[in-house]
Amino acid sequence: MPDKLTGKPVTKEIYAKIRSKIEDLKLTPKLVIIMIGEDPAAQYYVQNLEKRGLKIGIIIETKTYGTDITQTEILNQIDDLNQDDSVHGIMIQKPLPSHLDESEIVMKLSPEKDMDGFHPINMGNLILGKEGFLPSTPTAVLELLDFYNIETSGKNIVIIGRSNIVGKPLANLLLRKNKTGNATVTVCHSKTENLSEITRKADILIAAIGKAFFVTADMIKSDSIVIDVGVNQIDDPEKGHRYVGDVDYENCFHKVSAITPVPGGIGTITTAVLLRNVLSAAQKAN
Ligand SMILES: NC(=O)c1ccc[n+]([C@@H]2O[C@H](COP(=O)([O-])OP(=O)(O)OC[C@H]3O[C@@H](n4cnc5c(N)ncnc54)[C@H](OP(=O)(O)O)[C@@H]3O)[C@@H](O)[C@H]2O)c1
Repeated sequence: MPDKLTGKPVTKEIYAKIRSKIEDLKLTPKLVIIMIGEDPAAQYYVQNLEKRGLKIGIIIETKTYGTDITQTEILNQIDDLNQDDSVHGIMIQKPLPSHLDESEIVMKLSPEKDMDGFHPINMGNLILGKEGFLPSTPTAVLELLDFYNIETSGKNIVIIGRSNIVGKPLANLLLRKNKTGNATVTVCHSKTENLSEITRKADILIAAIGKAFFVTADMIKSDSIVIDVGVNQIDDPEKGHRYVGDVDYENCFHKVSAITPVPGGIGTITTAVLLRNVLSAAQKAN
């Protein structure tokens, strides 16, 4: 295992499999992204997805709306997409304006087209270990663990972050009785007391907080593995801005046995996993 766990070799394998399976399809997989407003980080992510889709043969159509869109308009749009047989996957890009009810929007998605795996049916299947679409980022973490043959069975895995899109589903996936599961999982959050004491016991520490450089070297156990899910935009005197993780990578690097970089780590794999979900949805429709 290298000390820098990059996402690229993981995605290379995923994209190769997607490409070969697309060739067997009679149709072209199509993902529709619903984007509201002009959040720069969201635009950057969506542009990358579009480029990737083009490269591997998945149509990606982004429908962009102003922040004044109403709840009814967005629900009607999802209804149309649910019924459109040429659309295999739908993704709602975050952030959403505060006047919109996110949970009602997610509920409106057909679970068969819910590429993020956020619909309660998909979430329920995740917890029960049944088939369904899995959320991309937690799955990306599993793909990384699997690719680099990182043992999870019996290990103390600490996740910082309990969001519905990362921390909670990831904790459940790591509890599964399989190669990337069987871990003893602790989930920490903003009300956790003595956080550093808990994180220092982690064989594998996963940070999904949304705060740049939050995890410092004194919070991690020597020779542990650190997975950084965070993506935070910070000012950069030369480039204007740049993206960093939740972990103070430079100072933690020498203490750990392996660590993921940001960018070039989990985020890269997340894109590949999402596109693989679109392929699966298209295969079912084929
Ligand atoms: N790489 C990717 O593909 C990808 C995908 C999704 C997200 N992300 C990134 O991952 C990060 C987390 O995203 P998210 O959507 O899960 O964020 P989120 O919904 O804001 O959740 C953040 C979590 O961190 C916890 N937290 C905040 N401050 C803390 C503190 N001082 N001590 C301990 N826990 C604290 C929060 O606790 P409470 O619950 O108590 O508030 C919450 O559970 C972000 O940087 C995001 O950009 C990356």
